[in-house]
Order: sequence, then structure tokens, then C-alpha cells
Amino acid sequence: MKIFLTGAAGFIGFHTAQRLLARGDEVVGFDNVSPYYDPTLKEARLKILSDIPGFSFIRGDILDRPALADAMKGADRVCHLAALAGVRYSFEHPEEYIAINIQGFFHVLDEVKKQKINGLVYASSSSVYGGNGKLPAEETDRTDNQLSLYGQNKKDNELMAHTYHHLYEIPVTGLRFFTVYGPYGRPDMALFLFTDATLKKQTMQIFGEGKMQRDFTYVEDIVSGIVASIDKNYPEEIFNLGSGRKEELMDFISMIEQATGVEGKKEFLPMQPGDVRASLADISHAKEKLGYEPQTMIKDGIPKFVEWYRSYYKL
Ligand SMILES: NC(=O)c1ccc[n+]([C@@H]2O[C@H](COP(=O)([O-])OP(=O)(O)OC[C@H]3O[C@@H](n4cnc5c(N)ncnc54)[C@H](O)[C@@H]3O)[C@@H](O)[C@H]2O)c1
Repeated sequence: MKIFLTGAAGFIGFHTAQRLLARGDEVVGFDNVSPYYDPTLKEARLKILSDIPGFSFIRGDILDRPALADAMKGADRVCHLAALAGVRYSFEHPEEYIAINIQGFFHVLDEVKKQKINGLVYASSSSVYGGNGKLPAEETDRTDNQLSLYGQNKKDNELMAHTYHHLYEIPVTGLRFFTVYGPYGRPDMALFLFTDATLKKQTMQIFGEGKMQRDFTYVEDIVSGIVASIDKNYPEEIFNLGSGRKEELMDFISMIEQATGVEGKKEFLPMQPGDVRASLADISHAKEKLGYEPQTMIKDGIPKFVEWYRSYYKL
């Protein structure tokens, strides 16, 4: 298949492209290499992808509708991962979030419709569950209580996709990712920040006084869920993609310390606006309909990240 993949220079997009290419799909990557975090990391990912046969890349913005339309031509499926992805950053840049995550999402969806492309898989987020407090979160739980504009954007995407499916019968699958981690991970996320601080002997800032719990999902497991969603191409679905386990933040930090061999300096801070105390996915729906089975436990995934981090940054 020829897959049009937005966000191909991003963390999850990079790993998704590699998996699709490895099995012989053609991937057209589309990304504006946004400066939200270090673009040299994105360029490094693109450099790896550009050496794999079947990959082509278009540097473009999903807000540029003609460029997007042109790039999407001839695709069999669209996988839309491009977005502004940080919860905290959405407090400082609300206009950009509305533009890219709402208008940009609409451009992708409407172009899928216009070009009669047979299926869209897109990234949603566990943030749609907001302040529910019910664990584990199931796809049928209420999602009208978001705690950040980012979470609201993702819920809005799900509603738009639902409406387009209803009106135009486009196959749409939304994937609610739960805290994804792994090699080439995002510099604004906990694993990267804690590893970086630990190895550089700086103080890590631990929010929620260290009492938070998270469902951390290894990126290769997420990719398995994405690829299965592309292949199944259900008429309309929403899936949680998590590990189905929740980790205490302080245990997570201990595992980083073990993997680095360094005891980190810690500063405990209160919860940040927009944060939830705990997240945990019920993954039974994805198991049943996608054959989704997370393979990597956090105790194995963290050392893989640390090993990558050390070799990439030569630390
Ligand atoms: N990483 C996680 O834990 C997580 C959790 C839940 C949901 N998600 C969602 O998964 C998707 C991928 O996340 P990620 O962690 O790989 O983030 P990422 O920031 O690494 O990747 C997103 C990519 O989109 C690109 N992009 C941003 N604005 C664009 C624009 N206007 N036009 C074209 N490209 C643009 C960026 O340059 C970046 O390469 C996002 O939609 C994110 O919201 C991620």
C-alpha cells in the first residue's frame, strides 16, 4: 500500500514509517519539522528514513491546504499523526493548537474525503478522558471533561471524524495513545527529561510530589496498534492503545536510575495544571479487534531508551 503519513519526522511517525517500510509498504512522509522541540532530532530521524527504499518525504505544513492536497495524491490510506502534542505547551500557545490540531486536522480529513481515499487512522490521546478519575479508562467512558486545550483538540478530532464517517462513509479509526516512550523519544516527555537530568547530574523536577501513576506504552507496541488499524480499516472505531498497566512515578524513576547507574537529584513540585493524577488504559477492545498485545514491559523498555540516549548524545 501507499501510505500518506503526517508527522513522519516525529517520534511515533518515525517508528511507524520504519515498520511500514520494513514490510514493503510505500510511505510518503509529510511534516513541517516544527521547532516545538529540537528540530535536529527530527532531521536525524528523517535521515534514517531517507536511506530506506520506499520512503519519500515532503516538507510541508498541514495548514497549507494546496501543498497537503498535492502530497496526498495517490495514497491508499492516510495515517495522521502530525499535531502539537504537548499538554503543557498548549497553555502557552493556544492559538497554534487551535490552528494545527483543529484546522489542520480538518484539512487532512476533508482532503481524505475529496480524494476518496479509503481510510484514515489518526492519533487521539488518553487526554480525552481528562478529569474522569475512573480507572482503567474504557472507550465507552464519558469524554466531556478535558483538562487542557490539547485534550479538547483531540476530542474535537474524534467528533469531526465521526461526523465525516456518518456523512461520507469514510473509514476512520482514532487511537487514544497512553504516554508513549522509547528510543528517539520526545525531549519534552518525562523519560527524556529525567534521563537527561540524571546523566548530566542536574535536578529533575518531579511534579505531583512524585505521587502520579501512568500507563507507559513502549513505542513499538503503539506502532503494532497503528499498523493493525491501517490493515483492518474498520468503518468507524476508537481504540485505547496503552500497556494496560500503571506504574508509580517513583518506581519509574528508580528504573531510570538503575539503567543509568546514577542516583538522580530530585525536586518535588505540586501537580501542574492540566495533569491527571493517574492514567490506565483498558485495552480489551484493541485486543479483541486489532489483536493488540503489548510486548514490552517498562523494566525492559527503559534500558532500551537509556541505551539509545547515551549513544545518540554521546553521554
Ligand atoms: N507521544 C505520546 O505519548 C502521545 C500520547 C498521546 C497522543 N499522541 C499523539 O500522537 C501523535 C504523534 O505524537 P509524537 O509523540 O510523535 O509527537 P511529535 O511532536 O514527535 O510528532 C508530531 C510531528 O508533527 C509535526 N507537525 C507539527 N505541526 C505540523 C504542521 N502544522 N504540519 C506538518 N507537520 C506538523 C511535527 O514537526 C512533529 O514531527 C500526535 O498527534 C500526538 O498528539 C502522542
